[in-house]
Amino acid sequence: MHSHFFPREWEDLGRRFGGDWPWMKHLDERRGVVMLGQKEFRPVTSACWDAGRRLEEMDRDGIDLQVMCATPVLFAYARPAAAAQYCAQLFNDAGLELAARGKGRLKTLCQVPLQDTDAACKELSRAMKSGHLGVQIGNHVGERDLDDEGIVTFLQHCAAEGAAVLVHPWDMMGGARTARWMMGWTVSMPAETQLSIVALILGGGFDRLPQGLRLCFAHGGGSFAFLLGRLENAWRNRDLARGRSALPPSAYTDRFYVDSAVFDPRALRLLLEVMGEDRVMLGSDYPFPLGEQRVGGLIRDMDGLSTGARDKLLAANARRFLGL
Ligand code: CO
Repeated sequence: MHSHFFPREWEDLGRRFGGDWPWMKHLDERRGVVMLGQKEFRPVTSACWDAGRRLEEMDRDGIDLQVMCATPVLFAYARPAAAAQYCAQLFNDAGLELAARGKGRLKTLCQVPLQDTDAACKELSRAMKSGHLGVQIGNHVGERDLDDEGIVTFLQHCAAEGAAVLVHPWDMMGGARTARWMMGWTVSMPAETQLSIVALILGGGFDRLPQGLRLCFAHGGGSFAFLLGRLENAWRNRDLARGRSALPPSAYTDRFYVDSAVFDPRALRLLLEVMGEDRVMLGSDYPFPLGEQRVGGLIRDMDGLSTGARDKLLAANARRFLGL
């Protein structure tokens, strides 16, 4: 779960729609740079677009199946909906092409123009019919959080379509203060993810969503598990902090999954205690530098995990989440 890709051939959408769109500058056969207009965004390897290399590295790490989704810089939620829809279609079809070269071991989550609920629902349905297992969404659309009416409507549609939903942080809070040392990734991303879970709980989002919706938050749910006690205390002692949730925050941990991308056995242990061993699944962030470098290593090497729990984290929970 939770690996990323970028198509080898990608139209420069800036030429079609104007503005600085992401595109891939190929340096040689094995290296490239994701560009934003003329600015370098991130150096990457050919694992981003080369199915053969992905399979080789999966074999190296003992991974049978990998679920790929967009690099969030492609979401395009701040652009006109028609442009984001075009981008999503192009990207989703490219994902299936890459998956088709994966000998049955590469699966995909689509992306949608989430700023336009109708267009997002339509593209989700089209993508599910063409073979995607679900969708990756960014954790907010501008000022709109996951409890927003339009986004809840989209999530209801995902439940009806049987689509798994991975929520990925992006467009990170913090502005200039987090511009140094990649703090957008190390500090803001976990806060973004926590904020999204809190918004869904306190905004009454979970109360409006069907139990059957399969929802997963990236990076172990960010700061949520560690700070659930603080949230719970506020909910009990301040009316202002209660929001519209029917139940205290801790009552909603059976409504979503988190991945295991926390890089520390102590954090994974806490996550298992808070979420339960049925709610955590292997997530790698492959093939990026901030992903797990030996995919599955954290779970495989963790002390004190029963064989049953290890199997749930490495396979069974993801199978259930993905509807496989
Ligand atoms: Co990621």
